[in-house]
Amino acid sequence: MVVLGIDIGGSGIKGAPVDLATGAFTSERVRIETPQPADVASVVKTVVAVAGSFPAADAIGITFPAVVLHGVTKTAANVDASWVDAPAEKLFSEALGRPVTVLNDADAAGVAELEYGAGRGVPGLVVMVTFGTGIGTALFNDGVLVPNTEFGHLQMSGLHLHGGDAEDYASDRIREAQELSWQDWAERVQTYLRHLHSLLWPDLIMIGGGVSKKADKWLHMVDVPTKVVPATLLNNAGIAGAALLAARNAKVI
Ligand code: BGC
Repeated sequence: MVVLGIDIGGSGIKGAPVDLATGAFTSERVRIETPQPADVASVVKTVVAVAGSFPAADAIGITFPAVVLHGVTKTAANVDASWVDAPAEKLFSEALGRPVTVLNDADAAGVAELEYGAGRGVPGLVVMVTFGTGIGTALFNDGVLVPNTEFGHLQMSGLHLHGGDAEDYASDRIREAQELSWQDWAERVQTYLRHLHSLLWPDLIMIGGGVSKKADKWLHMVDVPTKVVPATLLNNAGIAGAALLAARNAKVI
């Protein structure tokens, strides 16, 4: 059985077949640059090219960096506006010639961390927070996903900060653009996570995105009144989580 995960990101569209017992890839990941502009037609074409690099799949899961409600993309914070209200699942299914599952990127990463990584076997309320171009979140209670939480868009103005979205204050994009030191950025992450904590009181916060690889540089400076750990699957999480959910939906596992 071949189950494929495909991760649509701002700069690259990546795919790999996944071993659902471990979350590991069964062959090397393929990455194609995200077309610019990343409109619906060009992204669908690129996803077909990524899928075409592998043997025909029994199930395909695709992540998308926006709200995905019952297969329809509803927002487009960091992607082309043509995705608002696009019937993504239908479009990808038609183009790939088989049913697919489309879900939010942070939700997919969280699903993988709960199954194979840092959240494995953790009871209670668990939040995954991914720091990248935006801030993505995934919320689980006793392992059950509450889809499409968008806590990256929490308004921080009440805290007399910069006003506006949390992701315009504490994402990794902002750290890079404003050339923040790890300490200055960690302070922002702490403010954000404390705010999130005061609203959710989670048992565990898992940190994902590229910065989780560099957690030793900054995570010790983040003090939040709950356990905060780096994700363990790193870049593989989105692909593995999408593949797992697609296999479940297609009832091939
Ligand atoms: C989007 C989320 C997404 C996150 C990470 C945010 O801007 O609204 O849906 O999960 O970025 O890509």
